[in-house]
Amino acid sequence: MDAANLPVAVVGMACAGKSEVSGQLVTGYGLESIYFGQVVLDEIAARGLQPGPQSERQVREELRQAEGMDVMARRSLGSIHAAVDAGRKVCIDGLYSGAEWQLLTQQVGLVTLAVHAPRWLRKQLAASRPGRPLTASELDERDLTEVRRVDKATPIALADLHVVNDGTLEELAARIAALMKRLPPAISSRLRPPAS
Ligand SMILES: Nc1ncnc2c1ncn2[C@@H]1O[C@H](COP(=O)(O)OP(=O)(O)OP(=O)(O)O)[C@@H](O)[C@H]1O
Ligand SMILES: [Mg+2]
Repeated sequence: MDAANLPVAVVGMACAGKSEVSGQLVTGYGLESIYFGQVVLDEIAARGLQPGPQSERQVREELRQAEGMDVMARRSLGSIHAAVDAGRKVCIDGLYSGAEWQLLTQQVGLVTLAVHAPRWLRKQLAASRPGRPLTASELDERDLTEVRRVDKATPIALADLHVVNDGTLEELAARIAALMKRLPPAISSRLRPPAS
């Protein structure tokens, strides 16, 4: 694969702005978004459960227990390969675990973009986001679980590109535009973890 067409994985803690960044990559740069959280939402629908943070957590944990920590990536491999093989440039919204990063880096190849926002702001965004609000204490609990049990911090700390989302959406768009100019050096110096 041409390295310039590597999928861009958008990583970050909950409510840091990953979906906003992915949306900007879609509308501004023509990337096709693949949302890993959709694996959980599809499973909730298939099981006929009530959508919401509780069922999301339950299904996420059950899937990981049954199929491994890289289940979301594994279940999304088909759609990623199909897009990449067809020459479409992909961004992955919300890669969750260190294991998913490992799998995709080895099986597809990735450049990672970390979105950061301070916790006070993530709490505000979490409480007011439409559809799937999270309370401040739910966000704290989720942060600790994701760092300690899901190894979510590894791909964030080791990301090839970083953006801070602590201003307006217009400021975020300007920062993303600056980052996209630095995509070629980020791709050529990307981290490729050895097989585990
Ligand atoms: N800079 C910003 N200005 C205003 N609203 C924002 C900004 N960034 C994100 N938001 C809003 O905050 C909420 C959380 O952002 P977003 O959904 O992009 O986060 P996320 O990292 O994808 O969260 P999750 O981990 O739950 O998928 C959304 O409602 C989004 O529209
Ligand atoms: Mg999101």
